[in-house]
Amino acid sequence: MRKPIIAGNWKMNKTVTETIALLKEISSKDLSKNVEKVVIVPFTSAYSAVKELKNTDIKVGCQNMYFEESGAYTGEISPLMLNDLGIDYVIIGHSERREIFKESDSLINKKVLSAIEHSINPILCCGETLEERENNRQEDKVKSQLIEDLKNISKDDIEKVVIAYEPIWAIGTGKTASSDDAEEMCKFIRDLLVELYDSKSASKVRIQYGGSVKPENVSEIMSKDNIDGALVGGASLKADSYASLINF
Ligand code: 13P
Repeated sequence: MRKPIIAGNWKMNKTVTETIALLKEISSKDLSKNVEKVVIVPFTSAYSAVKELKNTDIKVGCQNMYFEESGAYTGEISPLMLNDLGIDYVIIGHSERREIFKESDSLINKKVLSAIEHSINPILCCGETLEERENNRQEDKVKSQLIEDLKNISKDDIEKVVIAYEPIWAIGTGKTASSDDAEEMCKFIRDLLVELYDSKSASKVRIQYGGSVKPENVSEIMSKDNIDGALVGGASLKADSYASLINF
């Protein structure tokens, strides 16, 4: 059985002071024990977040990392730095990193390999643009991303990867993919994993949907066979709304 995983991606929001205040509020809520709960905070908030959530079952993630352990890479954060903080998850290849910061699939692949090597679970994002969706190219796009991003990830390691299907046109736009469209793509991803690995390994991988998930649509999305969680931006930034997502 795959344990559902709901992660709030805070993106570039919340100062340290605001982080502590929000996490105090979140951790005072009654949150389901049957869901793996993650908050994915800015680097500057990570230390305080881990400290604040020490006695809870809410895990902390970061939004990016470089693949090297140390060196002359101005502005980057290494897996050893995340290990030292006690970070459990790291988002790799979010569409905002791909689109705004021009991250390539080969860079993303190096980051996924490095995260696994350092025992940090990658949340690997994939998804198509509006134009690709309108031309019915969503499957080709996601397939080519995942084949490259998962290169040299072994059968033993693939279950450590969470895959987040996030159609770019649904991110922050209020337009959610219909639950049937989301399920269709998540099933496509699972079938691809069967091809790349085998059905046993594929059945262990958790696949999230992301893109305008909110308390009003989360239970419908989570009811689908191949959707094991959600990666949520905007609606994860308030304690009440985060709690409603977790308790879907
Ligand atoms: P929204 O939930 O704000 O659409 O963002 C989705 C997302 O990009 C999560 O990583």
